Amino acid sequence: MSFIITTPLYYVNDKPHLGSIYTTLICDSIARYKRLSGENVIFITGVDEHGLKIQRTASNKGVDPQSHCDEISNTFIQNWEEWDITQNKFVRTSSKKHESIVNEFYSRVKKSNDIYIGIQKGWYCVGCEEFKDNPDNSPTHKCPVHQKNLEWKNEENLFFKLSKYQSEIEDLINQPEFIQPKERRNEIINFVSKGLKDFSISRTNVSWGITVPDKQNHTFYVWFDALLGYVSALSHHMNDPSLEESINNGWPADIHIIGKDILRFHAVYWPAMLLSAGMELPKKVFGHGFLTREGQKMGKSLGNVLDPNILLSKYGKESVRWYLLKDITLGSDGDFQNKRFVDIINNDLANTIGNLLNRTSSMSRKWFDNRVPSNNILNDDNKLKLKATETVKKYLNHFNAYEIDLAANVILNLAINTNLYLNDKQPWLLIKDKENIYKVSNVIYNVLESTRIIGLLLLPLLPDLSSKIDKQLGSLYFKDKSWTEQLVWGRLKHKSLLPTPSPIIEKLEYE
Ligand code: MSP
Repeated sequence: MSFIITTPLYYVNDKPHLGSIYTTLICDSIARYKRLSGENVIFITGVDEHGLKIQRTASNKGVDPQSHCDEISNTFIQNWEEWDITQNKFVRTSSKKHESIVNEFYSRVKKSNDIYIGIQKGWYCVGCEEFKDNPDNSPTHKCPVHQKNLEWKNEENLFFKLSKYQSEIEDLINQPEFIQPKERRNEIINFVSKGLKDFSISRTNVSWGITVPDKQNHTFYVWFDALLGYVSALSHHMNDPSLEESINNGWPADIHIIGKDILRFHAVYWPAMLLSAGMELPKKVFGHGFLTREGQKMGKSLGNVLDPNILLSKYGKESVRWYLLKDITLGSDGDFQNKRFVDIINNDLANTIGNLLNRTSSMSRKWFDNRVPSNNILNDDNKLKLKATETVKKYLNHFNAYEIDLAANVILNLAINTNLYLNDKQPWLLIKDKENIYKVSNVIYNVLESTRIIGLLLLPLLPDLSSKIDKQLGSLYFKDKSWTEQLVWGRLKHKSLLPTPSPIIEKLEYE
């Protein structure tokens, strides 16, 4: 059994922006966490390459769509490498493999009698690649997300009988675990309660798409095509893929992590398409919030994006990961503010965690011959041990419930408590009296052990920082042994050597 997690497949109209990095980092941390917990993970990401938006972007650049897609897809692949994303599959919807899965899926849906031809009229947003139900009454009909004019469409399309699946979709979305967080679920319940309308799955005016096998002048609607990327990603056969083989390789997905703007597609349209094709449904759809700047969604079309490459080279990936994963409640919107970013990195990582490690390691080296002291007092009134054990429990529960920000915050809380413990015990005063040596060795052991656990808990969130902490403690983490077992208090070996400390993270400067 595999654990399958997916990011959305990103449009290749431009290189990745911080919004796409955000979703991908969330998935990366969950994938890392699940692997550390012993699961066999298939982490799928990739790009959505067809449709009018991409066709126009390529034509504005004066290049053919395929070379445009090749260029931008490569940028995504490179970026994911730079951000250390640990995906197992990178899917491209312009690949032959994907095309043949889409065709086979279409023929299944057709066999279920769910396709018919009709006329599609309505206001369309090319940015969203979506017809809008209630365009506002302004003369220009602007898309609320992209702030661009909608376009009137009136053409012959193939339709999918979504309405046929009304009661099955209702049953699905009424299951509390299917859509998260729960505020999002209510939005969808409300939408479905108004009655599902059939939707068009082909276009006659878009040449950049997969040709519908029995309608040569139609290409598949980009969403009908793209959602299947989650399935075609699972096929190992480049030349001779089949739906059956992809399904046998692990379908269904355990969780689709997406932004709230594309929840309808994942929680309503997609399950209905899968039901029609006789396939199993994903177990969960999680709709996260938007990253905003000045309260507006950050997006390519709005021109207010933060360049992730600049953030990466200026601040490093660990800082950006920490800010996005710890400071933004997963599911809610989060405003990116430079000052807050710098403060959080300096307070949490440099001061609270980094200093704790360095000063304790220095004291230990000075007083105990460059080594970890023993914890030799037998009475078990050890508040820090209790705190660390409780933290591990809470952290695992939060991660299992996809509350990543809460998981990150309990780590920070343990670090704060460890600092308080150290300041309360004041080993630098105790050491002045030789008689206190046992007490001091106990205090230092406890603080170092707590720091070891903090470092291990950071592994899915901040892999580099975590391994720096581990190195400073004498490389105690064993990759080939169970991570969860190593989270148990008391694994720090007394007398093990402590290397010379150096800062695990540089403090950031304000702009
Ligand atoms: N191609 C479709 C997805 C198809 S999935 C089969 C798409 N692509 S997208 O590139 O426009 O967006 C991809 C994801 O990035 C979406 O989940 C979207 O919500 C997310 N984000 C785009 N801008 C964002 C922010 N400013 N903040 C957070 N996430 C945002 O939609």
